[in-house]
Amino acid sequence: MLDTRPAPPAPRGGRAVLRPTGRERSFSADELIVSKTDPRGIITYANDVFLRVSGYEPDEVLGQPHNMVRHPEMPRAVFKLLWDTLGAKQEIFAYINNLASNGDHYWVLAHVTPSQGPDGRVVGYHSSRRKPSAAAIRRVQPLYSQLVAEERRHANARAAVDASSRLLADVLAEQQQSYEEFIWTIINREES
Ligand SMILES: Cc1cc2nc3c(=O)[nH]c(=O)nc-3n(C[C@H](O)[C@H](O)[C@H](O)COP(=O)(O)O)c2cc1C
Repeated sequence: MLDTRPAPPAPRGGRAVLRPTGRERSFSADELIVSKTDPRGIITYANDVFLRVSGYEPDEVLGQPHNMVRHPEMPRAVFKLLWDTLGAKQEIFAYINNLASNGDHYWVLAHVTPSQGPDGRVVGYHSSRRKPSAAAIRRVQPLYSQLVAEERRHANARAAVDASSRLLADVLAEQQQSYEEFIWTIINREES
């Protein structure tokens, strides 16, 4: 599927590349990390939990592309799936590893939805994230590592995301699961 989303603007002020510390930070099971974006993925809202866990001030996140919290170990294929699903006006659940302002990381289970105007046009996106279980992270991490390893075999981003998207489709086909079935198997185990 073609990536139809418009290219986001470059980050403001030449942000330095963050190096992951390998330290994990967490938040409580009764908290939600919430953000909203415009149709291009530019942050228009971040709640207090988002700011506290990511370690940013409001003026550092508002107006920035959402990939400002991107962790380098997250597969491109997962974000392609996210944008393809949102582009089809569908919601998606995904386990995402994010990078805080000091390089610490925090895993979330994100529920991302498109917001539409009365004419059906997408006016923005909303993401609500809760704390995933350690068991769920253990289930997705090996798959994500496999996808990232595949991506690193390719010199350009396009080839990398195509190859890892194919690999993701192959892994799911082997398990005879759609992505939705795969993710819900993990989410349902969190709740049992
Ligand atoms: C509502 C919404 C929330 C998002 N939340 C995150 C997030 O928490 N972490 C993240 O890395 N990407 C998030 N993204 C995806 C980013 O826009 C981006 O596609 C991703 O970070 C990959 O960045 P890259 O294209 O620079 O590799 C979100 C997108 C939307 C629309």
